[in-house]
Amino acid sequence: MSKKIAVLAGDGIGPEVTAEAVSVLKAVSSDFEFEFALVGGAAYDDGGHPLPQSTLDLCKQADAVLFGSVGGPKYDKIQPPELRPEVGALLPLRKELNLYANVRPAKTMRALLGASPLKPENAAMDLVVMRELTGGIYFARPRERRDDGNTAVDTCIYSKYEVVRIAEHAFSIARQRRSEIVSVDKANVLETSRLWREVVTEMASQNPDVKVTHMLVDNCAMQLVRNPSQFDVILTENMFGDILSDEASMITGSLGLLPSASLSDHKEGKVFGLYEPIHGSAPDIAGQGKANPIAAILSAAMLLRYSFEDDVTARKIEDAVEAVLDAGLRTADIYQPGLKLASTGEMGQAILEQLR
Ligand code: IPM
Ligand code: MG
Repeated sequence: MSKKIAVLAGDGIGPEVTAEAVSVLKAVSSDFEFEFALVGGAAYDDGGHPLPQSTLDLCKQADAVLFGSVGGPKYDKIQPPELRPEVGALLPLRKELNLYANVRPAKTMRALLGASPLKPENAAMDLVVMRELTGGIYFARPRERRDDGNTAVDTCIYSKYEVVRIAEHAFSIARQRRSEIVSVDKANVLETSRLWREVVTEMASQNPDVKVTHMLVDNCAMQLVRNPSQFDVILTENMFGDILSDEASMITGSLGLLPSASLSDHKEGKVFGLYEPIHGSAPDIAGQGKANPIAAILSAAMLLRYSFEDDVTARKIEDAVEAVLDAGLRTADIYQPGLKLASTGEMGQAILEQLR
């Protein structure tokens, strides 16, 4: 039976990079059926809402979701804010699809060590940020203004089950890597962090094959730029993960290269997930063939690995990407003099050829 992939290309460079990822998936298997739907500003322009019910329904029926990017200056002033692409599409999509486990690998590629803002000898890094994605301060009510608009309230709430289920994903991903988890919190100040630490400590004692340590978030931010190679899996809550994953991705020097997966529970024996590049919609370069499709293509590799347990093909795609970079092909975002400049389509094509 063919597998259904919902493709939500979104705004800005989303459609052009997602098209390359779809080509790669088509090249590696004839078993996929792609269904396309609008999301973000494109959906808002079309029907007045950034996450139409039909798009949500399509995702719920699909086996996996391939996502591009949403947003752009055109949509930043929409009122109410709940209709803007980020808050009106991305966050509810995460919540509705129960995508609580956000996997953000950040690895400095061989060919791009020199692109890191860290000194090349400090820039070697291969870590995964496991970010809790549907709880914490992003989602807890009340979210309001009080006292004539002069006081604002956001609350952070975590329950034990939310920590347990993300930590379970972290343990299983750690086992496929170096089996080391650094759990990051602010337990010296926050009660939610003290709960987080208690739960992770208890789970660590039940999973002695994985080494678990704890680190305060401010220290982690510092350690990341001091010596990023010390980390294997960073397990953390929603907002800390948002910040630390941006920091880690910058160390790779190549935001256009990083994929992500947002995973839910197992559905009929398979993990359900949404896969997207970590970069945004880059409206300034949209439609010009300048965008780097590699993050989208590597997101497709993650889709194969996590939704369809096809690690072999996922690795083939990752190896093809590295080979093309090693050969000196570069999109504009990572271009250095003396190398070969490629458009979005040329980069996608080169990766396809390498795969064959
Ligand atoms: C991310 C983004 C989103 C987040 C924004 C766009 C709501 O920064 O996916 O990291 O904060 O989660
Ligand atoms: Mg972010």
